[in-house]
Amino acid sequence: MEQFIRRFLLKRLTGEREILFTRAVPSREELRAKLESIDALGIYLHIPFCEQICPYCPYNKEIYSDELAKGYVNAVKKEIDFYADLVGNKPITSFYIGGGTPTTMLDTGLADMIGHIRDALDVRCDIHMESHPNHLSAENLSKIKSIGVQQLSIGVEALVDRHLKALCRPYTVNGVKEAVGRAVSQGFKCVNVDVMFALPGQTYQEIEETGHQLVALGVDQVAAYPLFRFPYTPLGKASKTRYHVLFQSLKRRRMLGILEDIFYQAGYERSSVWAFTKRGVPRYCSVTVPLYVGLGASGGTYLKDVFYVNTFSAAEYIKALAEDRMPIALSLDLTERMQRSGWLYWRIYETQFTKADYQERFGESIDSAYGGYLRFLKRLGFLKDDGKRVVLSDRGSFWLHACEDIVSIDYISKLWGTSKRDLWPEKVVL
Ligand SMILES: C[S@@+](CC[C@H](N)C(=O)[O-])C[C@H]1O[C@@H](n2cnc3c(N)ncnc32)[C@H](O)[C@@H]1O
Ligand code: SF4
Repeated sequence: MEQFIRRFLLKRLTGEREILFTRAVPSREELRAKLESIDALGIYLHIPFCEQICPYCPYNKEIYSDELAKGYVNAVKKEIDFYADLVGNKPITSFYIGGGTPTTMLDTGLADMIGHIRDALDVRCDIHMESHPNHLSAENLSKIKSIGVQQLSIGVEALVDRHLKALCRPYTVNGVKEAVGRAVSQGFKCVNVDVMFALPGQTYQEIEETGHQLVALGVDQVAAYPLFRFPYTPLGKASKTRYHVLFQSLKRRRMLGILEDIFYQAGYERSSVWAFTKRGVPRYCSVTVPLYVGLGASGGTYLKDVFYVNTFSAAEYIKALAEDRMPIALSLDLTERMQRSGWLYWRIYETQFTKADYQERFGESIDSAYGGYLRFLKRLGFLKDDGKRVVLSDRGSFWLHACEDIVSIDYISKLWGTSKRDLWPEKVVL
């Protein structure tokens, strides 16, 4: 059934039967030509290191070591130089450092990499960065501020000790609350906290208490994700036979509803499918501009009609750059229809967009291209359309969650799962 839904949506939205990533590495001149027609870019920097591997986590990461970190800094700087030559003085209007855990490199090269990016490129935006609660001592928080991070995210995950234990998180509720309190009092433009819900055995009362505690902590933004089971993670492998996406949906819907009520009442607004941000505060988020360059192991680069993914292994990434080879492992050519669908997916994920933006990007009216779909979704109460702006409703957000579980999680699992097993795959078919 889920396979059928995936195939149906893919065909309807992109006209394709499958998505094919191949081992085609672009030449410098091809990349230069692609970058020439682009006005502004985002930068994503991936730090693939963690001090521990959490059983539920799908992201590309490996255990931190000083030696790998040292090689990584040099490799990232080389990759920056490669792109700087092609990007020239085009403005960088979005800059995100994710992982893994970027704060593992706080004393071993993070500042050096950020400084190199600033020197080589024309960065005109805030830096947004992920962090681990155990790295947020007062001293480390000042370091984070001093290297120019203005928007900070903290992986809190839960505010009940038994859930933290079940998730193998290495801290207690009291400890993590203190870390969040210190970050909030540091004067960042936005402090985001990640939490997960619909955890095994989690009650509605626990989710309600968690929502209230987050508001009381004074965080600017909360990103609340249901616990996804990626098949290639230890959690996914353990729950294969017992887990049913559709059965979980009702629990998730009710828990998300509880959080929505608490955050709306406390003056937060929905700022993406998963996130609630205090009114008037700039939103913490991943790369916000449609086109971006991804640096580091597993970094993804999107340049209008093509998407590239770097090798997932830190050692292979370091080796490739040391030998003056591109670390790109896979590439995907995007037809015009795929670009439109991708653009719409991400704009809807951000919960709103203007019709003028679509017109500017694709040179046609969204009503002539997707008017039938918009009217249908409006009738279902999934979105509001005032003629100029399209805004996703809470109900629409929930159904986007459900689709995400059925479609995106499967695609991510295939792409990331294969890239982790095979460091230079010949092809990946989604
Ligand atoms: C890169 S981690 C955050 C930074 C840091 N590595 C940490 O763990 O504190 C990104 C976030 O993704 C979310 N996440 C990870 N695995 C997830 C899963 N299986 N389902 C839902 N959310 C998940 C968690 O909330 C996590 O904080
Ligand atoms: S959740 Fe964070 S700390 Fe845990 S493995 Fe994933 S990236 Fe690393």
